[in-house]
Amino acid sequence: MNKDQSKHQAVLVKEVLEALNPQKDCYYIDATFGAGGHSREILNTGAKVIAFDFDQASIDAAKELFNKEINSKQLILLRENFSKMDESLLNLKKSLNLEISGIFFDFGTSTDQLMSKDRGFSFEAREETLDMRMDDRLGVKACDLLKLIDEKQLAKMLFEYGGENDARAIARKIVAIRRKDPNSLDKVGTLVDLIEEVKGQRARGKINAATKTFQALRIIVNDELSNIEAVLPKALRILQNSKAIDKRLVCIAFHEGEDRLVKTFFKQIEATNIGKLINKKPIQASEEELAINPRSRSAKLRALAL
Ligand SMILES: C[S@@+](CC[C@H](N)C(=O)[O-])C[C@H]1O[C@@H](n2cnc3c(N)ncnc32)[C@H](O)[C@@H]1O
Repeated sequence: MNKDQSKHQAVLVKEVLEALNPQKDCYYIDATFGAGGHSREILNTGAKVIAFDFDQASIDAAKELFNKEINSKQLILLRENFSKMDESLLNLKKSLNLEISGIFFDFGTSTDQLMSKDRGFSFEAREETLDMRMDDRLGVKACDLLKLIDEKQLAKMLFEYGGENDARAIARKIVAIRRKDPNSLDKVGTLVDLIEEVKGQRARGKINAATKTFQALRIIVNDELSNIEAVLPKALRILQNSKAIDKRLVCIAFHEGEDRLVKTFFKQIEATNIGKLINKKPIQASEEELAINPRSRSAKLRALAL
């Protein structure tokens, strides 16, 4: 077991390196820098990294931990939504002669975010504000969303993004509670109690009763699937326009919604002979990795060579 479960541990590291195949002095984009676990390994090969993360906390931590690499310009760190990757790269190209050899995505949230205080990602942090924004420049917190959203739409989203079978009953209860007091859902604990009440006996399963609802809300608040949909064609175009040889596009998805987008996109590319899948089936964590890092269980890696 990983000793410190509150720190993010990069998943499928060996597999990412094999798929991305980083070469010394060539440029790679790490679109989801997080705690920098994958970037660190890419940098260790002598390759250069342009990293994106829209979470200020991730950027602040990186400035200390990667100080040397930032000063030597081996690492360029950008606080930006990866869906704006094309614009950011155009800006960089004004001062740097760069061709991109590979782009890597590790979608979703980091353990650091989930465990951080006062951000409302975890259903265990009952007293925290139900916020859930990875990028605090975003206007709508999860608690704001629950005040505004239509019941039917909420139920649909809880089902689609969280796979929550009790989505309709949970949405109904949320609307009933907010009618009495719109601010009553501002705290994590109120939503957790409400979900447990709806689920009754079924709340005593293996995973926490609130897991699916929390996942769905996080995806909605951070516009996660739309960002993936927007960036994949941009990433492809960046690689197509690059003069580098043997270019790679590598994605790790953690839930079905993300993986479906990647899988469909990669299939289209292969069908048009623009790129080739490196592995026919997604790569998943080995037993060895699962024993050290249980979070790796749902990770699926898909990679494309151009
Ligand atoms: C699963 S973590 C990445 C972990 C990282 N690979 C590591 O080894 O530490 C995902 C990271 O991507 C960031 N992220 C998610 N969506 C993003 C987006 N649209 N633009 C920029 N960063 C994003 C999150 O803030 C989070 O830090």
